[in-house]
Amino acid sequence: MMIPVILSGGSGTRLWPLSRSQYPKQFLPLVTDNTMLQETVARLDGLDGVAAPIVVCNEDHRFMVAEQLREIGVTAQAILLEPVGRNTAPAVALAALAAESPDELLLVLAADHVISDKPAFHAAVMKAADAARAGRLVTFGVVPTGPETGYGYIRRGDAATWDGTYAVKQFVEKPDLETARGYLDSGDYYWNSGMFVFTAAQYLAALEKHRPEMLAACRSAYANSHPSPDFVRLDKAAFAACPADSIDYAVMEKTDRGVVVPLDAGWNDVGSWSALWEVAGKDGQGNSLKGDVLSVDTRNSYIQSENKLVAVVGLDDMVVVETDDAVMVSPKSRVQEVKQIVDLLREAG
Ligand code: GDD
Ligand code: MG
Repeated sequence: MMIPVILSGGSGTRLWPLSRSQYPKQFLPLVTDNTMLQETVARLDGLDGVAAPIVVCNEDHRFMVAEQLREIGVTAQAILLEPVGRNTAPAVALAALAAESPDELLLVLAADHVISDKPAFHAAVMKAADAARAGRLVTFGVVPTGPETGYGYIRRGDAATWDGTYAVKQFVEKPDLETARGYLDSGDYYWNSGMFVFTAAQYLAALEKHRPEMLAACRSAYANSHPSPDFVRLDKAAFAACPADSIDYAVMEKTDRGVVVPLDAGWNDVGSWSALWEVAGKDGQGNSLKGDVLSVDTRNSYIQSENKLVAVVGLDDMVVVETDDAVMVSPKSRVQEVKQIVDLLREAG
């Protein structure tokens, strides 16, 4: 069996003001009527040999996770609650510790991605599973369309033993712009999709090798956890003492057991308002208008209203988002800088 591990603890700050710390993007119906978390779980329908998922999330979001799974008729085999965020390497370790047998395959998924071609995704997962059963740490590589600096890059090596897979020559998490441009020109690199397949045992062994202190903290947090009928609450003191790091830096950059499966399935991580505009439905002028919006002479813009009538005239390539307590306006080309607004708000407390 393969256990989906749904990482659902991120904060999605670049989609402010819709995505908030109390209501991050994975819990929002951004692209369809289902939330991103629900889409992630529903996307596994029809994939052979898939067990009930393990969801790893922040304690604050436990009822939202349980309710959203219930709405789509899914019962998790465990909902692991982190008292504090320690990034993805510890989150995956907790899921590996919670797996019934060390030989179980884990399919690690971000809770907030779009994949439009489900059959192509399923086919890639099956290929990944073959290599993972043989002890490899498998990632999915997306053909890059630009020198994005918010992604990990995978340099493909020779074809590996398992059909449709390649050795990973190099894994570089979030390079600078110049490096990313070089990668794009060389044609040898994929974007890391942030999804992985490996056995619980192989992941724990890799963590033991590269970040033993992290594994020790996770073991202690899990061994001293407080299970209730619906949730597993990790021990707060032990988990707080765990160093924070992503699976990409902690394991994937360092391991020599990496294998990559190319993924051509309409993947998008919806990491910004412009990415959301790209995947959203659009009218004849290239506008994606949501809620009570009136537009005149406006093109290629993303305009969303939650409460008020939002009326715009003469906009090109703009983003306007209105919510209960905030309005955000930005050129579509600069939406990455929304993160700076969130930082300013945090400083202001
Ligand atoms: N449980 C838990 N706890 N989940 C977390 C935590 C945490 O502390 N931090 C992040 N997550 C979840 C997020 O909700 C998301 O679903 C997933 O883990 C990935 O985290 P992100 O914070 O979105 O990572 P990223 O986008 O910066 O980078 C990763 O994804 C890229 C593709 O979208 C990396 O894997 C990159 O290499 C990759 O290119
Ligand atoms: Mg992400």
